[in-house]
Amino acid sequence: MNVYEPYLMTIDDVIDETADTRTLRLKFQDESVAESFDFRAGQFGEYSAFGAGECTFCIASPPTRRGYLECTFKSAGKVTSALRDLNPGDTVGFRGPYGNHFPLNEMEGKDLVFIAGGIGLAPVRCVIWNVLDQRDKYGKVTIVYGARSVGDLCYKRELQEWSERDDVTLWQTVDPGGETPEWKGEVGFVPTVLEKAAPSAETACAVLCGPPIMIKLTLPTLKKLGFEDDAIYTTLENRMKCGIGKCGRCNIGHVYVCVDGPVFTAAQLAALPPEY
Ligand SMILES: Cc1cc2nc3c(=O)[nH]c(=O)nc-3n(C[C@H](O)[C@H](O)[C@H](O)COP(=O)(O)OP(=O)(O)OC[C@H]3O[C@@H](n4cnc5c(N)ncnc54)[C@H](O)[C@@H]3O)c2cc1C
Ligand code: FES
Repeated sequence: MNVYEPYLMTIDDVIDETADTRTLRLKFQDESVAESFDFRAGQFGEYSAFGAGECTFCIASPPTRRGYLECTFKSAGKVTSALRDLNPGDTVGFRGPYGNHFPLNEMEGKDLVFIAGGIGLAPVRCVIWNVLDQRDKYGKVTIVYGARSVGDLCYKRELQEWSERDDVTLWQTVDPGGETPEWKGEVGFVPTVLEKAAPSAETACAVLCGPPIMIKLTLPTLKKLGFEDDAIYTTLENRMKCGIGKCGRCNIGHVYVCVDGPVFTAAQLAALPPEY
């Protein structure tokens, strides 16, 4: 078996989230793979546009919804541009699932606080839907989501759906200057809005994903709210190539992000070598 041979998948749907961010819904061409394929929230894959190469995205759809996978990506360079040129019915490659996952079993019975910025909502969305599809296993669900502007908010239909649920508390915010006259959410940076939301840290876990600056500024706020480092989970996006611990592209000291991660607690991040 060639570990680099991808599954062939057909693009079933294309959803434009923002001007430069797109979601692809992919279906396995092999029925037997469609039935048997399984993964855990937080895992990622290598997606290929044939002739252009592979790139790494999280699996943005939850494992509770079977038969398809979704990825959401921002145009960055060669492969993401090639993926953007594809249409429903076209074929892409997928290798995975790779990496570790969010420990949802250990989170059962706890309150969950999801904090995301921009396209960082993609991996968090996978966990959110996993939790909402098994809603009675978890305590309160609070979501704090921010983007640079109203136009930069991803998954707008799902944000609307979550805002209408009485078992979810959703705080949406845009950076100052990013609001429109119709905007009814918050205006301000994610850490400020998180402080205002003030979720209880007692028996709670936080799942955090976004640009490095947002993570850096949000960690002190979580600590101020009483979250311990081992109750804060995040997911790293170091550059990768093989995704399976062979090429040495993604490592931080002795830690291979593709195999030991991409999900880490704040306590694990604090123990990484200074190069991180
Ligand atoms: C575990 C993991 C999960 C990811 N999930 C997503 C996701 O869900 N959605 C998404 O849009 N992106 C995600 N990324 C980032 C994504 O892999 C890169 O944006 C993508 O590979 C760029 O490919 P490209 O060929 O289009 O760009 P390239 O031509 O390879 O690069 C274009 C530019 O982007 C920079 N770049 C490429 N990869 C990275 C990276 N990992 N970190 C910082 N800068 C980078 C390059 O240095 C270059 O300046 C994830 C990365 C990892 C490791
Ligand atoms: S991406 Fe190759 S070792 Fe991690």
